Amino acid sequence: MSSPWPRRLRRWLPWALLVPPAGIIVAVLVAWSGAINIAATAGHPAWLESFLALAMRSSVRAHSSAVKVPPLDTDLLPLGAAHFHGSCAICHGAPGQPVNPTFAHMLPHPPPLQEHASRWRTGELYWLAFHGLQYTGMPAWSGAGRGDEVWAVAALLRELPSMDVSTYQAYAAGNATLETPEPHQLVQDGTPIFPTATCDRCHGTAEATAVSPYVPRLGGQSRAYLLRALREYRVDQRQSGFMEPVAAALQEENLAGLADYYAALAEPRQPSTFAGDLQMGRTLALAGDAQRDVPPCLSCHGEPKRADVPRLAGQSGQYLEQQLLLWQAGGRGQTSHGRLMARVAQRLSITQIKAVSAYFASISAEDGLAQMESAP
Ligand code: HEC
Ligand code: HEC
Ligand code: HEC
Repeated sequence: MSSPWPRRLRRWLPWALLVPPAGIIVAVLVAWSGAINIAATAGHPAWLESFLALAMRSSVRAHSSAVKVPPLDTDLLPLGAAHFHGSCAICHGAPGQPVNPTFAHMLPHPPPLQEHASRWRTGELYWLAFHGLQYTGMPAWSGAGRGDEVWAVAALLRELPSMDVSTYQAYAAGNATLETPEPHQLVQDGTPIFPTATCDRCHGTAEATAVSPYVPRLGGQSRAYLLRALREYRVDQRQSGFMEPVAAALQEENLAGLADYYAALAEPRQPSTFAGDLQMGRTLALAGDAQRDVPPCLSCHGEPKRADVPRLAGQSGQYLEQQLLLWQAGGRGQTSHGRLMARVAQRLSITQIKAVSAYFASISAEDGLAQMESAP
C-alpha cells in the first residue's frame, strides 16, 4: 500500500507555490496604497524594534568577525576625540554635551556612545565607524580606503564609557583654547561649545606640538606642498576621513592664507618616540638602495631644491610610516605627485620603512640639509 503523502503533496504543491508570489503582490499593494506610516514621529511597534535590533546586532557581529584588532596605543586618543567632536558629536552628543534635539528626533535615534559603546567589542566599534549603517543616518567613514585611520576612533569609543568629562573635553579641544565667549560674541558668532572648526584641535601651534604623533607636523612645511595638500583633500583626490571634512568646510580663497601661515610657523620639535634602525635609515636617505632601485630620499626631499615635495626631516615617525604603508597598499596614488612617490614606497621593505621613518623623525630640517651636503 502506497503512503498517502505523495498524493497529498501533489494536491497542495501548486497552491503552496502560489504563496510567495501572492505575498509579494500583497506587500507591493500595501506599499503602493500608502498605508505604511514612515513618519519618524510614528515610531516603531515594539516587535519591529526588537526585530531590527536583533538583525543589526547579528549583522554587525557577522561582518566584523574578520576584523583583527591591533595594539591600540594611547597616542590615538587625542586624535580620535578631536575627530569625534568635529564629526560625530553633532548626532551622538559627547561626555558633557547632550544629543542635540534635532538629531535626537531621528529614527532610529543616535544613541549617546559614552553609554552604548560598552555594548560592542572593539572590532565591532571599528566596523561600525568604518562602514556606517544603512537606512539609519549613520554615515560610513568619509576617507575612502582609509581603514587605517578608523583605529583612532575605535580606540576612543572603547575608552569613552569610562572617560570623565574633563579628560574628554581636554582631548577634544586639543591645542585650541576654550574660553567662555562673551555675550556679544555669542550673539554674533553663535555658540561653539568647542571650537570645532579650528586646526588647533589637532595640529601644532607656536607653543605646542601636534596633539598626537599620528597628526603631521605642518610648521615650516613647504608652502606649495601645504596648498596642494589642502586642495587635494577638498576635491577628494587625497583620501582622509580626518582632513576631508575639514578641508571641504574651507573656502578656496582661504587655502593660500592657511598655507602661508603654517609655512611660516615655528612649531616646537616633538622628541621622536619612533623605533627603527637609524643607520639603515640614514643610508636610504642619503644613498638610497641600488639593489631595490630606490633613489636617495633626499634627492627629491632635500628642501629647498623642490618646493612641491614635502619636507620629511623633523616629521613624526608614526605619520611617515603610515603614509609609506598607505602607498604600499595602493592608496594616495590619484595625483601625479602621489604616483611618483608610490613607485619609491612600493620598493621599500617593512624594515626599511621603519628605519627611514625613525631616521627622518630623529633629525631636524637643518641637520637633513647639512648631512646631504656632506654625503659622499
Ligand atoms: C547624522 C547623524 C550621525 C552621525 C554624524 C554619526 N552617527 Fe553614529 N549613528 C547614528 C544613528 C542614527 C545610529 C543608530 C543606528 C541604530 O540604532 O540602528 C548610529 C549608531 C552608531 C553606533 C552604534 C551604537 C549602538 O549601540 O547602536 C556607533 C558605534 C556609532 N554610531 C558611531 C559613530 C561615530 C564614531 C561617528 C563619527 C565618525 C558617528 N557615529 C556619526 C547617526 C549618526
Ligand atoms: C581632527 C583633527 C584635524 C583637524 C581639526 C585638522 N587636521 Fe589637518 N591633518 C590631520 C591628520 C590626521 C592628517 C593626516 C591625514 C592623512 O593621512 O592624509 C592631517 C593632514 C593635514 C595636511 C597635510 C600634511 C602633509 O604633510 O601632507 C594639511 C596641509 C593639513 N592637515 C592642514 C589642516 C588645516 C589647515 C586645518 C584647519 C583648517 C586642519 N588641518 C585641521 C588632522 C586634523
Ligand atoms: C622621485 C622623487 C622622490 C623620491 C626619490 C622620494 N620621494 Fe617621497 N615624495 C615625493 C613626492 C613628489 C611626494 C609628494 C606626494 C604627494 O603630494 O602626494 C613625496 C611624499 C613623501 C611622503 C609623504 C610626506 C607627507 O608629508 O605626507 C613621505 C613619507 C615620503 N615621500 C618618503 C620618502 C622616502 C622615505 C624616500 C626615500 C626612500 C622618498 N620619499 C623618496 C617624491 C620623492
